[in-house]
Amino acid sequence: MSDRLKLLTPATLTLENKSYSLPTYMGVEGEKAIDITKLRSQTGYVTLDDGYGNTGACESAITYIDGEKGILRYRGYPIEELAEHSRFTEVAYLLLYGELPNSEQLLGFSSRLNESSIVHEDVHHFLSGFPRGSHPMGILATMVASLSTFYPVPDQLDEATEIQIVANLVSQVRTIAAFSYKKSIGEPLVYPSIKYRYTSNFLNMMFASPVRDYQPDADIDSAIDMLLILHADHEQNCSTSSVRTAGSSLANVYAVITAGIAALWGPRHGGANQEVIKMLEQIHAEGGDGTEFINQAKDKNSGNRLMGFGHRVYKNFDPRAVVLKQHCDKLLNKPGLNDPLLDIARRLEEIALKDDYFISRKLYPNVDFYSGLILRAAGIPTDMFTVLFAIGRMPGWLAHWREMIHGEHVTIYRPRQIYTGEILRHYQDINQRA
Ligand code: CMC
Repeated sequence: MSDRLKLLTPATLTLENKSYSLPTYMGVEGEKAIDITKLRSQTGYVTLDDGYGNTGACESAITYIDGEKGILRYRGYPIEELAEHSRFTEVAYLLLYGELPNSEQLLGFSSRLNESSIVHEDVHHFLSGFPRGSHPMGILATMVASLSTFYPVPDQLDEATEIQIVANLVSQVRTIAAFSYKKSIGEPLVYPSIKYRYTSNFLNMMFASPVRDYQPDADIDSAIDMLLILHADHEQNCSTSSVRTAGSSLANVYAVITAGIAALWGPRHGGANQEVIKMLEQIHAEGGDGTEFINQAKDKNSGNRLMGFGHRVYKNFDPRAVVLKQHCDKLLNKPGLNDPLLDIARRLEEIALKDDYFISRKLYPNVDFYSGLILRAAGIPTDMFTVLFAIGRMPGWLAHWREMIHGEHVTIYRPRQIYTGEILRHYQDINQRA
């Protein structure tokens, strides 16, 4: 246990007429926890917590969330301040190394990212093997896993190698993402360039071609950079927990990050931004005001949910959605950028926020409700949205991986279960089976 945890009065658990004393702790922001690490050995019971909604799987000093109050802080800094004043590379450094960098540290980090941005030339053979129309998240996951073969990781990691691995992943995820887009549209790859900062470098690789220079737009560049900041970490979410789970077996770090990418892809996690746009397009095509879609979302049998609404942790508002909505209005009100989907999104939000179904379940717009509109304004195709989320989340995943491997000891993640299958039965010859 870290010395930042305060020991509280133990809890008493009574089971089958026997009492057990369980240690309780309080974190630095007042979150309280019952320590059940010895529960099974002392009582024979395990806890049952479907989806881990009440389980603190680890201690962490990276990100703090208070879902009731709508608070999100990276290393103590409010997300609103970082979104307003910082750039993504600075936030990445903060998450990874614990402090905001001074000028020299930031310059060193940025230069390393620049130098690490070129993926091994042979990686291109993989790219040419993917069929046309492959989802870029599939390409990204495969390519990131393949980096383990191009940049072998020694069994004993020294500090210099670890710093280089982190730089490779933060920088090359962006190069691979842009390459996967170029591959999908059949255009030649554009290489990273020392001329650009992190985000504009990505936009240049996406949109420049031998016959067309990329025309930088400061508003789009800063909106995408801010979006990456807002996605950079979110404590023990599904993909980060997957990274920690895979990492706890001490697997190769490129494979560990691939586990995070795979988990992020799902429509209830990072894939939601793509689903939001599909939903808005559907409403636009049908010409309604969204009421019909909302009715379907309320009907469990329809299989539809109001995408971009609800969050496991935020039960009042998602602070990232608030920042993004302000930016969205500013960007989408620019001359020439009038997106009819924005009006539909605003209308949906208005209807849902007055509807008792959503109010009683504390369902509010999350970060993905507006992120897709910003990405559309930047010209990013819909199936690249989740890839952008992955670029943003990379420093967070790596910060958690580092925190875990540098912890006092790495405990392999291995939850228990309550078995509900067949009880003991014996093998039957195939001719005797029903
Ligand atoms: N539309 C309609 N009903 C919903 C929605 C929704 N978007 N979200 C939750 N509900 C209902 C759900 O049916 C359940 O109703 P009941 O109590 O009657 O059974 C209740 O609200 C609680 O839902 P839950 O699935 O138990 O809640 P959860 O905390 O496990 O799920 C969630 C959180 C994000 C998976 C869910 O709200 C959802 O599927 N939202 C839509 C997908 C989405 O926008 N995901 C992006 C999350 S933010 C980006 C990120 O960090 O990954």
